[in-house]
Amino acid sequence: MLLGRHRECGVLDGLLEDVRAGRSGALVVRGEAGIGKTALLEYVIGSASDLRVARAAGVESEMELPFAALHQLCELQATGETVSKRRIDTRDDLTPQETQIARLARDGLSNPEIGARLFISSRTVEYHLHKVFRKLGITSRTQLDSALPSEPAA
Ligand SMILES: Nc1ncnc2c1ncn2[C@@H]1O[C@H](COP(=O)(O)OP(=O)(O)OP(=O)(O)O)[C@@H](O)[C@H]1O
Ligand SMILES: [Mg+2]
Repeated sequence: MLLGRHRECGVLDGLLEDVRAGRSGALVVRGEAGIGKTALLEYVIGSASDLRVARAAGVESEMELPFAALHQLCELQATGETVSKRRIDTRDDLTPQETQIARLARDGLSNPEIGARLFISSRTVEYHLHKVFRKLGITSRTQLDSALPSEPAA
């Protein structure tokens, strides 16, 4: 139950009304730590049960990357993956992005080449590959071929 946020809730309700009317919009919620930003997001999600809600969370290590959150949203859209599915995924499953990066590395592309193709920095490629290696229990790119789950037939 939100206390004393009538003005903010009104703005959020207005945004939802716009969405229902087919108008897009963006809203930035900012404020000091603990001021109630997440509580407001929860309020708006709670009022949007008739709408499809997609969520993406920023990661500090990707802070300098433009459109990192947008990329995450496109990925959710492309794979049809839902937030709840992501939650019950086992920790060792590769994310769609990790799988994509792992396949490109397996096919012989270097980190900068993978980065250029996916519009991310080679440092971020390295970061994802590190997680891929850990999840697959391997230590080098040459092991990717046998360690990668087989691809569904096209
Ligand atoms: N208007 C409110 N009425 C009642 N409880 C509130 C209100 N705003 C925030 N709270 C409560 O205060 C606590 C902190 O709020 P919240 O987590 O939303 O802050 P935040 O701005 O997202 O913080 P952070 O910057 O750390 O992410 C939560 O337990 C939340 O439920
Ligand atoms: Mg918060």
